[in-house]
Amino acid sequence: MPITKPEESIIKEVEDERPPFPAGLLSRQEKDTLIERGARSLYRWYTTRSQKTRNWHPDHSFNWRALRTDHSPQLNTVIEGVYGVENYAPDYASKVTHMMRKSYGRANFQLRWGAEEEKHSDLWLNCMLFMRFRTPEWIEDYMEFLRNGEWQPPWEDPLHMTFYVVIQERATQLTYLNIGRTAKGNNDKPGFVDAADPVLFKVAQTIATDEAAHYNFFLEIARLYLYYYPAETLDALVDVIDHFAMPSNHLLPDGANFYEVAYRGGIYGPRDYATDVLKVALKHLGVHNRRALEKGIKRSRQVPDPDGNRRETAFFNGFDYDFVETSVKRLFGRLRKYEEGVGLADIIPSQFVPSGLNVKPAEDL
Ligand SMILES: [Fe+2]
Ligand SMILES: [Fe+2]
Repeated sequence: MPITKPEESIIKEVEDERPPFPAGLLSRQEKDTLIERGARSLYRWYTTRSQKTRNWHPDHSFNWRALRTDHSPQLNTVIEGVYGVENYAPDYASKVTHMMRKSYGRANFQLRWGAEEEKHSDLWLNCMLFMRFRTPEWIEDYMEFLRNGEWQPPWEDPLHMTFYVVIQERATQLTYLNIGRTAKGNNDKPGFVDAADPVLFKVAQTIATDEAAHYNFFLEIARLYLYYYPAETLDALVDVIDHFAMPSNHLLPDGANFYEVAYRGGIYGPRDYATDVLKVALKHLGVHNRRALEKGIKRSRQVPDPDGNRRETAFFNGFDYDFVETSVKRLFGRLRKYEEGVGLADIIPSQFVPSGLNVKPAEDL
C-alpha cells in the first residue's frame, strides 16, 4: 500500500481528540501497582541477601568477655542512649507494619526489618551488661523506665514515613560508624580518646552494615515514589526534612544529655545531620540541595486529570529526574535478574515501565 501524506482535516481531528495529558501517562492505579511490584520483589531480594550476608547473632557472634570494662562515662552514656533508641523496636515494627499493611511487599519487609532492629537492641543490651559500668539492677530499672514509654510514628502515611526512615537509617548508620571509629582509637574528643576496643569495633561495624542495608531498601522505595509521583513526593520530602528529629529522643530518661554527649564526642550532631546525612540522602534522591528543592517545589504546577492524577507541568529546580529514572531502571533490572535466578521471571517477571512524564530541570526550559 503506498504511503500517502494524511489530509490536513485528519491531522486536525486526531489533534482535537488527543487527551489533555501526555500519551503514556499512567493511571494512579497503574503507578501504585508498579511501586508495589518493585517493593515486593525488592523485599524478596533483600531477605535473600540478609540471610546470606548478615546472619549474625547478638549472643554468639561476639567475644563478650573480651569487651573492655574501663570505658569512659561518656562512651557508656552513648551506648546507653543508642540502646534506649533501639529498645523501641517492637513499637517501630508493629506500628509501621500496620501503616504499610495494604502493601504486601512493604508490610512483610517491616517484619523482617523489625527482627533486625530487635537484634540491635539485644546487641547494645549485651554491651551495657559486659561493659560493667552499671550494675545489672541499674540496667533493669533503665529498661523498666523505657518500657513505660511508647513510640508513636511521626507521620501517618507510607509516603512521608518512607522519607523519614531514609533519613533516620542514614543518621543511625553514621552514629554507629562514629562509634566504630572511636572503638578503633581514632577519636580525639575528650572522653572518647584511647577507647580502642576490638569487640566494640566489631559490634559497631556489624550494626552499621545493617543500617546501610535498611537505608538502601528505603532509598529504592523512595525513588520509586519520586519516579512515578514526582510532585507529591517532593512535597512530602520537604515536609519530612522540615520536621525531622531522631526517634525516641524524648522517651529516654535523659535524652538531652545523651545527645549533648554524642555531639561533644563527635558521634552525632547537627553538623553530621546537615553534611553526612541530609546532603548524602538528597544526592541519592536526585535532589541537588535543600534550598533548590524548596525553590523547585514553588515552581512546579499541577493540574488534576479526570483520573485524579496530578499532572506535572514538568519543571523543577534542582531535581534530576533522569537520575531517578536511571536508578529505577537499574532497580528493575536487578530484580529481574534475581527473579530469573529463582525462576519467578518465567511466571511473573518484574518489568520497568516508563512513567510517561516529561520532567525537566527548570534551567533546561
Ligand atoms: Fe537499628
Ligand atoms: Fe535500621
